[in-house]
Amino acid sequence: MRKGPNSGGDDLYVIKTFQGLEDVLAEEVQLLGGKNVRKGNRVVTCFGDQALGYRLNYELRTGLSVLTPLKSGRTPNEHAVYDLFRSIQWDRVFRINKTFLIDMVCYSDRFRNTHFLALKCKDAIVDQFREKYGRRPSISKCPDVKINVFIKDADCKISLDLSGASLFKRDYRYTRGIAPINEVLAAGLIKLAGWDEVSPFVDPMCGSGTFVMEAAMMARRQPAQFYRKNFSLMHLNNFSQNLWEKVVDEANSRIQDQHNSIIGRDRDPEVLKKAEMNAVRAMQKGIRFEQGDFFNWQPDDPPGVMIMNPPYDQRIDLEDAIAFYKDIGDHFKQHCKGWKAWIISSHLKALKRVGLKPIRRIPVHNGPLDCRLVGFDLY
Ligand SMILES: C[S@@+](CC[C@H](N)C(=O)[O-])C[C@H]1O[C@@H](n2cnc3c(N)ncnc32)[C@H](O)[C@@H]1O
Repeated sequence: MRKGPNSGGDDLYVIKTFQGLEDVLAEEVQLLGGKNVRKGNRVVTCFGDQALGYRLNYELRTGLSVLTPLKSGRTPNEHAVYDLFRSIQWDRVFRINKTFLIDMVCYSDRFRNTHFLALKCKDAIVDQFREKYGRRPSISKCPDVKINVFIKDADCKISLDLSGASLFKRDYRYTRGIAPINEVLAAGLIKLAGWDEVSPFVDPMCGSGTFVMEAAMMARRQPAQFYRKNFSLMHLNNFSQNLWEKVVDEANSRIQDQHNSIIGRDRDPEVLKKAEMNAVRAMQKGIRFEQGDFFNWQPDDPPGVMIMNPPYDQRIDLEDAIAFYKDIGDHFKQHCKGWKAWIISSHLKALKRVGLKPIRRIPVHNGPLDCRLVGFDLY
C-alpha cells in the first residue's frame, strides 16, 4: 500500500463521497484521526495506520467507500495496463480461495472498450496465480476483494477498495420505500443542516425513515456500520481480527442509550409501516412515528431541526409542484415558528416558490439529480 512522503510510514486512504459532502466528510475523517486530510472533488484523502482504515470503514457516516492505493503508472495501451497489474504480487494481497472483482472507471480516449480492459486486468491477476499455483481465484459480482482501477488518459491507479459493497449499505434496512434517499447522502445533509444531535429532529415526509434512522444513530453515537458484518478489508492477507475487534469495541463503547425527540411523519400508512419495521430491526426504539398530513400538523415539541425531501416524482407536473412547495412555505410561516427547516429537492423552480428567504442554499447531487439543500430560519 502506498506510503506518504511525510507520513511516517502511514498508508494513504482515499475516501469517495457525493458531490457537496466533501466538507462534512473531511471533518469526520479528521475527528477519526486522519492525518494530512485533503479535500478533492467527491473525494477526501488522508494518511493513517491500519487501525484508521478500519475506523473509517466502521464509523464514517458520509463516505461511500474507502480505498487504499496499491500502485500507479503510465499505461498508454492495454498491454501496459496488463503489465502494471502483473507487477503487483497478488498472492501477497489475497489468497487464492477469495473471489474478486475489478471495478473500473476510465476517462480516456485511448481505451474504447472498458469492459475489455477490465478483462485484461482480471487476466493479469488470474495468469499470475495460475502460473504459481496451477489454480486461479474466481471472480464474483459480490466479491470478497474489490479492486478499483482509475484511468485518466494514460495514467492508471490501482487501489484496493477496503469497503467492498458501498458504505451506504448499512444493513439495517428491512424494507425500502418508493424513493428512499441514500443513507450516506441523508447523513451528510443532516450534518450540513447543522443539527446539534440533541435538539428535536423531525422529518415530516419521512417515507421509509432514512433521515430519522441516521439522526437516531448520530444522537446515540452508534457507528454507521454497527449492523454490517462484511467488508472487503476482512478478506485481505493483512487483516487482523484482533485489531478489527479493538476498533469495533472502542467505537461501540461510546454508544448511548437515549436520545431526545426524533420524529418521523408521513401521510401514507403503508410506507410508515416500513419505516417502523426498519426502526424495530435496527433497535432504534426511541424514534416516534406518526401518521398524518404535513398540512394538518403543528409541531408540539420545542423547536429544533426539520428536514425533508418532498416527492419529486416525474409524474408531478411543474404547476402542481409549484403549488405544493408554496403550500409548504405557507405552512412553515403559520405553524412552525422557531424551527430550522431544510428541504432537499431537484425541483429547483418549485423550491423558489417556498416564499421564504433561505439562510443557505447548498448544491448537492443525489445520484444523477442536481439538487439543492435549502435551509430556512422560521423565527
Ligand atoms: C421522496 S419520499 C421521501 C423518502 C424518504 N426520505 C426515504 O428515505 O424513504 C416523499 C414522501 O413524502 C410523503 N408525502 C407527500 N405528501 C405528503 C404530505 N402532504 N404530508 C405528509 N407526507 C407526505 C410521501 O408519502 C412520501 O413517503
